[in-house]
This record gives sequence, C-alpha cells and structure tokens, in this order.
Amino acid sequence: MPSGKRGHFPVGTTVLEAARTLGVYVESVCGGRGICGRCQIDVQEGRFAKHGITSSNDHISEFGPKEKRYAEKRDLKDGRRLSCSATILGDLVVDVPQDVQVNAQVVRKDADTRIIERNPAVHMCYVEVEEPDMHKPLGDLDRLKAALEKEWGIRNLDVDAYLLPQIQKILRKGEWSVTAAIHHDEETSRPVMIGLWPGLKNEAYGIACDIGSTTIAMHLSSLLSVRTIASAGTSNPQIRFGEDLMSRVSYVMMNPDGREGMTNAVREAINELIGRVCAEGNVAREDILDAVFVGNPIMHHLFLGIDPTELGGAPFALAVSGAVHLKASEIGLAMNPGSRVYMLPCIAGHVGADAAAATLAEGPHRQDEMMLLVDVGTNAEIVLGNRQRTVAASSPTGPAFEGAEISGGQRAAPGAIERVRIDPVTLEPRFRVIGTEQWSDEAGFADAVQASGITGICGSAIIEVVAEMYLSGIISEDGVVDGSLAAKSPRIRPTGRTFSYLLHEGSPTIIITQNDVRAIQLAKAALYAGVKLLMDKQGIDHVDQIRFAGAFGSFIDPKYAMVLGLIPDCDLDKVKAVGNAAGTGARMALLNRDYRREIEDTVTRIEKIETALEPKFQEHFVYAMAMPNKVDPFPKLSLAVTLPPRKNVGEDGQAGDATPRRRSREDRAARRSRE
Ligand code: FES
Repeated sequence: MPSGKRGHFPVGTTVLEAARTLGVYVESVCGGRGICGRCQIDVQEGRFAKHGITSSNDHISEFGPKEKRYAEKRDLKDGRRLSCSATILGDLVVDVPQDVQVNAQVVRKDADTRIIERNPAVHMCYVEVEEPDMHKPLGDLDRLKAALEKEWGIRNLDVDAYLLPQIQKILRKGEWSVTAAIHHDEETSRPVMIGLWPGLKNEAYGIACDIGSTTIAMHLSSLLSVRTIASAGTSNPQIRFGEDLMSRVSYVMMNPDGREGMTNAVREAINELIGRVCAEGNVAREDILDAVFVGNPIMHHLFLGIDPTELGGAPFALAVSGAVHLKASEIGLAMNPGSRVYMLPCIAGHVGADAAAATLAEGPHRQDEMMLLVDVGTNAEIVLGNRQRTVAASSPTGPAFEGAEISGGQRAAPGAIERVRIDPVTLEPRFRVIGTEQWSDEAGFADAVQASGITGICGSAIIEVVAEMYLSGIISEDGVVDGSLAAKSPRIRPTGRTFSYLLHEGSPTIIITQNDVRAIQLAKAALYAGVKLLMDKQGIDHVDQIRFAGAFGSFIDPKYAMVLGLIPDCDLDKVKAVGNAAGTGARMALLNRDYRREIEDTVTRIEKIETALEPKFQEHFVYAMAMPNKVDPFPKLSLAVTLPPRKNVGEDGQAGDATPRRRSREDRAARRSRE
C-alpha cells in the first residue's frame, strides 16, 4: 500500500525484493546493506476483508542484525522495518510510508500535500568497488562500472565528462566505497553517472519550478523521500521589459540584445531562488541533481535562450514543442555540475508547458467526467476533456483580471479590496481588504485597515464588484450602468456621458466606471468564447467539473465567476480552485518519471484549437458580453443565486430599449445561431 499491488512470494523473500518484483518503488541507496535507512516499511495488522488476508507482525521475520545495528545508530520509528532486511513469512499488508525521514529536515507544508509515488529520474547507488590489482589492468572507473552493474543491474553506463578527472580521488577518499548518482529518465536512453561521492551519500534533491510571466514559483524536494523541503517565489524580473507576454515579444523584436537580456534576467532570478530554497531547507546547491521547469511558451523559449518572435504571430510556431532534456550547466543554472533539467512539452504555440503540467496535476485525461481546466492570466490557457478526448486553446483575456486597465485596479497586495458585497435595496457596498480580517461595515475595520490603507481593487474583487453590480441591478445584463438609479443612491454618479459606481470614498477614491465594466466584459467574453469553442469541438452543452488554476483562480469565488459568465454553468460544488496546478505538475514530473511519459503521451493526443482562426469565436464572444450570457442558460447557477430580471439600459445609462446598434447586432447573431 498505497499502490495496492499484490503477489505471492516464497517464504524468506525480503520485502524489498517483493516490492521490486511487483514494480513498487521502495527507495534504497545502500543496496540493501542496512545503512541508508531509506527502505523503511510498516506492517499493517488485522483482518483485511478487501484483500482476503490476515496480516500480522508474526508473518514478518524478527528484527535482524542489520536492523538492530541501524536502530541503534539512527532513529527507527516504532513499528518501522527495513525492507532490505525483513523477510516475508506469511500474509502481509505492507505500507510504504511517504514520510521516511532519515535526516532531521524541516518540512514545509506550502506545497500541495498530495501523495506522489516515487520513481525519480536520479538514483543514488552506493557500491563497494574492488581495489586495484596489478594483475588485473582494469581502470578504476571500469571497476566502478562493474560494481554498479553487479549490484544495481546498471548496464551501458555513460559518465559525465566533468567526473573523469575526479574519479580516482573520490574512490580513494571513500576507501573504495562510493555513492554514484545515476540519471536514467527514458527507458530507451542510456543511464548516465552524473555525480560521485566518497562513502554513503544519503541525500539528493530536486527543484520544480513554474516560470510565470508575473511570478516564478519554486519547490525544493528530496528525491529520496519526496518531501517538500522549501518553497519560494519571486516576481519575474522580465516585467521591466514588458508587463505582458506580447510586449516582451515586441521588446525582443525591437532590441537586438532583447532576447539575451530577458534570458539572463530570468536565469538570474532562478539562480537566486535556488539560493533561497537551499538556505531555507539547509541544503547545499551541489546536492540538487534534477530540475523540472514549466512555463507558458514565451517563458519557456526565453528561459531556454530561444527567440520567441515566431510566437508573436500566426502560425505561432514553437521552436520545440516536445519535452526538453538538458544539463543545468548548459543554461547557466548553479546547481551540481551534473544536474539535469527536464522541461515538460508545450501543447501549442499559445498553450505551454505550464498548461501541460496543470493537465498532469488535475488529470482530465484520467477520468470519465468532462473537466474544464482554466488558467487565467493575461492569456487564459484552457483545457477541456476526459479519458476519450481532450482539446485545448488559449484566449486573449488581456490584463483586466489582474487589475490592469481598471481605474482603481491593482495587484493583489495589502490594501487592495479583495471581496465586495452590494446591498440590492440600498445599493450600499461593504468590502474586505487584503491584510484585514473585518469587513468594512464591522467594528474595528477603520483601525485595522490603517496600516495598509485602502489602495485599490484587485482581480478577485473586480469580478465580485461587477457581478454584484449586476445582481443588484446597478448594471443591466449588457453591462450598462443604470443612470436612473442616481435618483435612488448617491453612489451612482454621472461620469462624462455614462455613469459610475462609487465603491469607496477616500484617498484614493475608488469608483467602478462604465469603462471598467466594459474591460471586464471584454476579458470574460474572450475567456468564455474560448471555452465555448472547445465545448463545440467536444459536442457538449455543459461541463461536469471546472478547475481554476493559477494564483488568480485561488482567490476567485466560483459563484461570482459564474454570475459574470466567465465560466459555463456547472454544479457550484464541482468548481474548484487548485492553486498552482502547474507547480504541482512540475513536482510530479520531478519525483516520478512515469508522469513525464504520461504527459508526453497525453500532449500528443490533445487537439489544439487556434481561437483566432475559428469563425464562431466572434459570435460566441458577442453573446458572452452579456451577463451571464445572452443565449446560454445557467440552470445550475439559478438554483444557487437569484439572477435579476432582464432590463434594458441604453448606452447613455438611461432606461428603455434604446440600445439599437449593439442589440440589433446581437439579435442578428442570435437569429443566425438559432437558424
Ligand atoms: S536499502 Fe539501505 S537500509 Fe535497506
């Protein structure tokens, strides 16, 4: 357990051997000598009806000398056994624990706590090497290779060139006992010795990194215990070259050294982050032996030093779409000189390795239900599918959801309004600010908010305020602020030829203008139209599950996202925020190479849709400008929220049917679609 694999073995087989035979990965660095302690297991006791057996500690051999010696020297938790020593005497249910701790390492809980079965691409292999003999002219390296083959079954071993000058010294320092780090990712490739230490080296680490256009997030994990040792994030320094992706591509096109500048900037930031996670986890950089990176196509290319110009226009050709294998030293990363880098494949010119990683983490392709997976950024990456078929696209949502293009908009930071409610009768708002527990109408709010002030409105609240304005009748389903309400509430104010809503009076005063509402409508319509195209491809009119990935998704309230019509109708309890799913997918690929093969295979089967080329995109977009949508029903949402009756407000904010141009265009489009 937890793999659930079972089999029959002769009495006297070691548990480690049985696990190997079943294909269950149990770590072992010392090759069964009882010194590394990595192979620990637990025996579950009792009658297991599910398995039809009674498991008992009487069915496993008594503590052997290797275990006694290990337990004396190190800490072996009560009930734990070393599987390389303990042998099978009868029926057993064996637990392979996920928390084998050999060194006192602080463990961080920041990373997703899901259990990832281990099968990393790098293995630590301890061997005892025959000493040199004048009568046998085999070289030191050749005897090391022979020992690795004999004890670990490693054949056709390649050796990193940087190690060659060091081998003799290391062997002698370890008195002919050494630990080799063997990188073996794809079955079809040859194993490579990437590191060598004297004696027993009982630690090996890896990093999983998601390079976002705004933020870079990194986890440091033990390759031997899968524990997350440290996590850190930093803002992407490429922001100084351009806020969004396209402006960074333009920067490369306009500046001869633009690509190089951005590549260096992101690599420097990553090296700094490596320093931070190492310091936090008390790990030496040289002990990092493997790394997995994901990012959108432009981040992916710039990180690899590839000019992203081709991604700036149709046909959006990627320089490389498949998975990339590299040495960390080839791209200037400061880790062990032998460390390897793996980058997940990109799905398409607009749908990157980050979307592939999120797909790996959430697994639409592993289930029957139809899952919609959205990563909202300036460019939304959308994946829709199930076991049968998966399709993907991106949609140009623009930066409105991140607070840009919105008059009072700002990034999520202390002082930003993050939640908004509007009383449908009085039209008075109440809100919450990042860094403050109380709502604005609660006692103590004014004091609590003093430190940060009220500085603006962030993405999650922009969604909420527009949705609440719609629910309370301040805006019509077409998003027009109803000027007639100015008579009822001083918060509705004329602004030029339109009206706005006063959310907070102060310094700064935060108002939601007609333009702000329009910007959100454009962004959400782009996202929804992309989703609809994928639904058309799948031939479905509803989805079973929705997953919001990314930082923005973590703060967004699914109900408001649906009221706004950002996402299609769905059971609200089947809409989940999954945080940094791309980071989780990267961690999965770091700790288990089977996941690398799984996503490589899945990506070849994902059908890519280019939204810009689809004739129906425009039509879906026009319908999706309305809240929640001009033509699509939202029956499940209606069960949870009372949607306001339809009302027409002219572009000038005056009630009535005076919306001739836009309405008639929509009506024509609606008629066409019905026909
Ligand atoms: S394999 Fe090293 S202690 Fe069992």
